[in-house]
Order: sequence, then structure tokens, then C-alpha cells
Amino acid sequence: MRKHVGVLTAGGDSPGLNAVIRGIGKAAQERYGMEVIGIRDGFRGLMENRTMELDGQTLSGILTLGGTILGTSRDKPHRMQVGGKLMDMTDAIVENYHRNHLDVLVCIGGGGTQKNAYRLLQKGLNIITLPKTIDNDVVLTDVSFGFNTALGIATEAIDRLHSTAHSHHRMILVETMGHKAGWLALGAGVAGGADVILIPEIPYDVEKIAKAILDRSHHGKHFSIIAVAEGAISLAEAAALAKTNKNKAAEKMSTPNSKTKLVKRNLLHGAHILKLAKDLEALTRLESRVTILGYQQRGGTPSADDRILATRLGSECATLIHEKASGVMLAARGDKAVPVALKDVVGKIKTVPLNHSWIESARRVGTSLGD
Ligand code: F6P
Repeated sequence: MRKHVGVLTAGGDSPGLNAVIRGIGKAAQERYGMEVIGIRDGFRGLMENRTMELDGQTLSGILTLGGTILGTSRDKPHRMQVGGKLMDMTDAIVENYHRNHLDVLVCIGGGGTQKNAYRLLQKGLNIITLPKTIDNDVVLTDVSFGFNTALGIATEAIDRLHSTAHSHHRMILVETMGHKAGWLALGAGVAGGADVILIPEIPYDVEKIAKAILDRSHHGKHFSIIAVAEGAISLAEAAALAKTNKNKAAEKMSTPNSKTKLVKRNLLHGAHILKLAKDLEALTRLESRVTILGYQQRGGTPSADDRILATRLGSECATLIHEKASGVMLAARGDKAVPVALKDVVGKIKTVPLNHSWIESARRVGTSLGD
């Protein structure tokens, strides 16, 4: 019997999504003779039964394209806006899975998508997931596709900021994405030679940052680049948060995907880096500028590394489907693609370990981490 495979992309888009769709589609059709359909706009598209055929022609020429030809959304099956109301649409999704005679649904996404996919697995659907996010915060995989491209973009931005900071004798604070994890800021900070790197895993002391900048000044370096992860937090903020409501704060850190929490965090962040710049100006009497890299980090053509990773995981996913796997995320482990239980992935986030070699090498070359 010919197998029917559904593929959807959910959550924020990221470079490499089309490469992985192509990898799954080509291997599934050409190697195993399966039929592959794309679901448009994530879980919402499955709820509304909006699909597209992923035949050879559609899959051709998309390897290098940014974004996702399927479209994406942050809609969750169990809490979807329908007719102005938040509704549980899981049953409609399950129904459309069967209506399309799917044998398996491949969900490509980050932490939120893994959770939503797991819910559908618990409803009896066959599910395989793949780890996608520029934040690199999905657990049990070495890396997720999208991260390498975003890292390159953020690094190039830091490279370019150096000459203007140098010419104007300024501090330039540059905000990277990364959600609650510091991988992007740390990686780009190390690769781009930032003088200070602030990540959520290491709450910072603004006075220590100011001291690091003034020390540079005393050594004749009258400019500094400060790479700030969007989730970076000061010691004072960390303490205040803990004091206001210890339990609530802990819950916030562990469930970063709900709408209200995201909105709060984003609002906090626009203000956060600007306030940090002001505080540093007051303490150092140096002029500052702020650059928020934002969505540029998510857009455009994937790097060669991401294309390779996406092709590896996507094509291997077809083999997993052929072997009738379900309830797993296909993780990258060294040169291998390894299925890990989806239940072990959900609800966790991979932050930077404090003894990670990137942190240690940053410290060894004299970069301040604000602590
Ligand atoms: O998770 C990926 C990510 O790009 C984060 O780095 C960022 O915080 C968030 O998505 C932005 O989300 P949205 O696309 O909903 O604005």
C-alpha cells in the first residue's frame, strides 16, 4: 500500500525549512514511492483542511529559498482563534488527518511545535517531528536547522558594527534573537569579537559591564561592541522577578510559549536594551547606539551548513516513515540522525550550559559576560 505523508511547518519561520521539505518529499517519493502532501500554515491549515501537493515540480528549485513554501503560523490545535473565540480545534485536526488518509504527519518546528505535535500524538495520530529554530534551544539535538544561518547573519552584523563604532568612538549595543537561550548572542559575539556578551543564562551586573568598557578605554580602545541576547536579564531584574513571585517566575521561565508571556517578554525587550544603553552612558560617559537585528536573522537563503543539515534530516525522515516510526523527533547527533522520544523533548528548553566551551573561550580572550 502506498503511504500518505503530511508535512507542516509551524512556529516562527527559519532558513532551511524549504530544504527540509524538499529532503522529505524527494526521498519519500523517489525512494519509497510515498505520496506527500503539504499542509498550509501550520496546525491552522490542517484544521481548515488547506493542503497542497508536494510533487516533483513543487519540490524543485526550493533548496535555496528562505521561509517556507507551506506558510506557517503559531496556532495551537487546542487554543485556536476561530470566529473571534479561542477554541479547542483538536478534533477537527484529527478528522482532517483521517480525511486525507494520512499515515503520518511530519511537524517541522521549534519547542512550541514539538509540544503541539505531542498533543496530537496523544490523540492517536502518527507523528514525527524535526527540530527547527534559529534559537537552537530544542533539547536532545546537537543543533536545529536555521541556527547556523542566523549565526552567520548576526556575526556579519557585528563585524560591520565594528568599523562604525570605532570611527565614532561609541559603544554599540546589538540585540540578537534567541528567546530564552543565549546561543545566538554568544556564538555571534564570539565569532564577531564582541567585547561584552550578555545572555539569559548569566544575569549581568551593569557596573561590571561599564568597568569592562572603561578598561578598554584606558587601554586606548574608545569603542565597544556589546552583544545582547533578547532574553538577557540583569542581576537586579532577576532578583526583582524572583521576589515579586518566585513560583510565577519559575513557571514563566519554563513555559515560554504562551501568547501572554511572549507579549510581555517582547514588550520588556524593546525597552530593555535602550535602558541598558542609557545606564551604560551614565556610568561610562561614552556615547552609545542600539541596533536590534530582529527578523533579518530569520529571513533569506539558508547557509550551506543548514542546507546540508536539513537535507540530511529530511531525507532520513523518509526512511523513518518507511520503518513505521511514530512519536519521535529526528535529532542531529554528530554525523548521525537519531530518533528521540517526543515525550522527552516537550516542555524543555536547551539553554547554554555555564561550562560550555563557547563561554570559556570568550572568557579566555577577555570578553566580559557581565558577571
Ligand atoms: O523562536 C524563534 C524566534 O525568532 C525568537 O528568536 C523570537 O523571540 C520569536 O521567534 C519572535 O516571534 P514572532 O515571529 O512571533 O514575532
